[in-house]
Amino acid sequence: MTEPRMSALDPGGRQAGEIGALWDVFLWVSIVVWVLVAGFLAASAIVARRARHRGEANPLATDARQDRRLQRGIVVAAAATVVTLLALLVASIAAGDSLADLEDDAHALHVRITGHQWWWEVSYDHDEPRRAAVTANELYLPVGQVVHLELRSADVIHSFWVPSLHGKKDLVPGRTNRTWLRIDEPGVYRGQCAEFCGLEHAKMGLTIVAVPAAEFEAWRARQRTPAATPEDPVARRGLQVFTGGPCALCHTIAGTSAGGRLGPDLTHLASRRTLAASSIANTRGHLTGWIVDPQGIKPGARMPATWLPAEDLHALVTYLEGLE
Ligand code: CUA
Repeated sequence: MTEPRMSALDPGGRQAGEIGALWDVFLWVSIVVWVLVAGFLAASAIVARRARHRGEANPLATDARQDRRLQRGIVVAAAATVVTLLALLVASIAAGDSLADLEDDAHALHVRITGHQWWWEVSYDHDEPRRAAVTANELYLPVGQVVHLELRSADVIHSFWVPSLHGKKDLVPGRTNRTWLRIDEPGVYRGQCAEFCGLEHAKMGLTIVAVPAAEFEAWRARQRTPAATPEDPVARRGLQVFTGGPCALCHTIAGTSAGGRLGPDLTHLASRRTLAASSIANTRGHLTGWIVDPQGIKPGARMPATWLPAEDLHALVTYLEGLE
């Protein structure tokens, strides 16, 4: 698995590209200004030093011609500063305008993201609510299509930030924020909550997988299906452990009696790359560790430790690993 992209200087889409281009303008203008200022400063120091050596350093001496030259210099420098600032202002406004021009695209894909302490709920709604695809901490998005993200919070203020795709946008309790983006390069991107939201703010990561439209449709169709009842007797036992034990109080698995809403929907848990909001890779070992000792992996996480006899734990993990 290659490292997901996570840098505002490595844009993978339209919006991040605009922000990156604006950054370049500011960077290069600042470099030029800095070099000019430092150059003049050094030159004046050298001139003053030479004058002192020649014994001409009387600070009170006036020279009308030199005064006029200095005055002209100051006027030119002030004018250049104003022009530079205006140019940067125009560049910022232009970038803001092009960031906004994906808004209200009639063909935009609509995805609802809800921030929780400390994970992301992702929902691809459907006219039939039963068929909504609900997942957590990992979303697939089609390349080349405008995506409209509806951002909400279930508790405190979070901030949605995928540096390679767009700037930050807050998720604020009691209101709905929106952002639009378009991904141009397929690949895996990492996002991070960018507003301090409590103990595990740092481990509130998000994975975005950008794929061609056909692959996205196939993924979403799979996510819309309920979980199949396992054939394997061990996995069947695991399903009983899940629905009969504490897991079902917090988690939903569509197609079973488990309908808890406090934690992430686990209907297609095994299809995800990571666990615990992009904190750990989704492997059998990590999954077992996460069930037995979530606090050891993510101290403060709202998931309590679940003690299970070894056989039940084995069956449970086997079942969960089958939820493709
Ligand atoms: Cu959510 Cu920081």
